[in-house]
Amino acid sequence: MKSTADLISMKNNDRIVMVTAYDYPSAKLAEQAETDIILVGDSLGMVVLGYESPVQVTLDDMIHHSKAARRGAGNTFIVVDMPFGSHHADVNEGIKNGIRLYQESDANMIKMEGSDSFDVIEGLVKAGVPVCGHLGLTPQHFGITGFKMQAGDADQAEKLIEDAKALEAAGASMMVLEAIPMDLAKKVTETVNIPTIGIGAGIHTDGQVLVYHDLLQYGSDRLPKFVKPYADMNSVAREGLTNYRNEVKSRLFPTEETTYKKRVFE
Ligand code: KIV
Repeated sequence: MKSTADLISMKNNDRIVMVTAYDYPSAKLAEQAETDIILVGDSLGMVVLGYESPVQVTLDDMIHHSKAARRGAGNTFIVVDMPFGSHHADVNEGIKNGIRLYQESDANMIKMEGSDSFDVIEGLVKAGVPVCGHLGLTPQHFGITGFKMQAGDADQAEKLIEDAKALEAAGASMMVLEAIPMDLAKKVTETVNIPTIGIGAGIHTDGQVLVYHDLLQYGSDRLPKFVKPYADMNSVAREGLTNYRNEVKSRLFPTEETTYKKRVFE
């Protein structure tokens, strides 16, 4: 399994491939595809649990799903999200929640959205917890920002660059840049010494991340502009389920081969 140091050394050398996964089978497939990092993102609230946003996702949910992903991917570096509200009320509570998540989730690093928790990150790194930042569109703030491109003017772009520097100074080992203009992502990537992982941030970041259910079109029907679908699991699964339904209705299933024929009654 790669270490945090291995991932940092990939900056300027190799592209980092990250994909979300939230359970045993999805993590197993991500590991078989040799992705560098699995992200147990709080996007699971939307793509797995059916919520409108990540706001309802809890620390217990994140621990539960991260442990399942670890069981499917024993040899892949796992990053797990700190959920909504878990690091905002108070610095000490944020540090405690981060330590609990790291300790109980079987993940290798925790991820924290936004630019208002640098002191929590500092405390966690001091305690020995590797941290990934997340700037640009931060879906936990969707109630304020909506789900749309961020930092679209020069002042906002300057602020994001300052936040990226502050994240690095606080001890973050990498950062996700979501839904920002490509030239800003390039500038951030050139400014910081830790890897940047882009989603809707163009080609110049050190790595890319996509949501499993989006890139495989699995249960999701509306894709954001920045997603390229690489498979159509909706069609494959719907066809399989419809065939099963039809064969049960028409008594074509179960077949001879799928039946235990040992006689127990004379
Ligand atoms: O929760 C998530 O899946 C994420 C990615 C979109 C980066 O944070």
